[in-house]
Amino acid sequence: MLTSVALVWMATPAPSGASSPPLAAETPQPTPTPPGPLKADGGAPTTLPNAPLKSPEPPGAGNPTTSFPSSPPLVAQGMALYQNGCSSCHGILLQGQPGVAPSLIGVGAGPVDFYLSTGRMPLDNPREEPGRNQPAYTRTEINALIAFITKVGGGPPSPAANPAAGSLAVGFHQFVDHCAGCHQLVARGGLVVGAYVPALQQATALQVAEAVRMGPYLMPHFDAKQINQYQLDSLAKYVLWTRHPSNAGGWGIYNIGPIPEGIAAWFLALLALVLVARLIGERMTTE
Ligand code: HEC
Ligand code: HEC
Repeated sequence: MLTSVALVWMATPAPSGASSPPLAAETPQPTPTPPGPLKADGGAPTTLPNAPLKSPEPPGAGNPTTSFPSSPPLVAQGMALYQNGCSSCHGILLQGQPGVAPSLIGVGAGPVDFYLSTGRMPLDNPREEPGRNQPAYTRTEINALIAFITKVGGGPPSPAANPAAGSLAVGFHQFVDHCAGCHQLVARGGLVVGAYVPALQQATALQVAEAVRMGPYLMPHFDAKQINQYQLDSLAKYVLWTRHPSNAGGWGIYNIGPIPEGIAAWFLALLALVLVARLIGERMTTE
């Protein structure tokens, strides 16, 4: 009965096609399922009070996945780490606790890697919003926890993104369509009601893929029909690019481009004119 949760993929209508039309012609995307607050089950049709917040979207058929090492010693190590660091909230059998933490049954490797590699878990307090932190576990320990949790809880494989296979222009369009409303244009953070939206300055390509497919916290998740593999690769490429945008003569005002810079230039020019006018004016009166 518990494992049935893993099978309940959300049937989201996904109209977006593979090729992006030019930016100006794009119609606003239908907002993905509105994310719910802490205990909400993200709209998944399930009766479990402590179901995973959202069932992560599996990678599309035939799309690349990320595999993590697993071996009996790794699973054993993961079990010990889990009992110490996670079971107080997520339950001894990954079943979660109503009002405290969601079940980890069926979440799969992606969310576990995402939450641990960005230092979001373990939380100190179940009521706080998970945020990026120094990871509490080493890479080996994270692999151990993934090995244990996926062995016991199952779930889809983790997605993958290869920025080299993507296109910056496609990534930019996808970002404008699906992400900029929350994460803003150059992938710096923003605010949505009730949540802090992190800047994407530190996210790796894999973390971008994981976040897109799972939708952490209030972020919506996107399946392979909404954002296909090529678009995902492109998004990762764009997000990584925003860290070192090739500087097209910017003044460092967020590299937002020539128009705002032009406006800034006007204000500076205006200021200069006023100063000059004052200087001239003062001289005239003293003469
Ligand atoms: C203090 C309680 C607490 C502890 C300890 C804790 N978690 Fe969590 N965990 C939560 C809460 C609350 C959420 C829901 C967070 C959210 O809204 O994004 C969560 C969410 C998660 C998710 C996402 C689940 C989903 O539905 O997609 C994963 C994966 C996860 N935790 C893994 C872990 C692991 C692994 C550990 C141990 C290293 C751990 N957590 C320790 C409270 C806790
Ligand atoms: C409704 C608002 C919203 C939208 C739309 C959204 N996000 Fe997010 N995103 C969030 C929030 C809130 C978090 C923080 C979640 C948490 O702390 O667990 C987040 C976290 C992330 C992270 C983790 C950042 C880090 O380094 O810790 C990545 C990567 C990310 N989003 C990428 C994307 C991409 C790519 C898109 C578009 C496909 C997108 N997001 C769309 C709200 C949003």
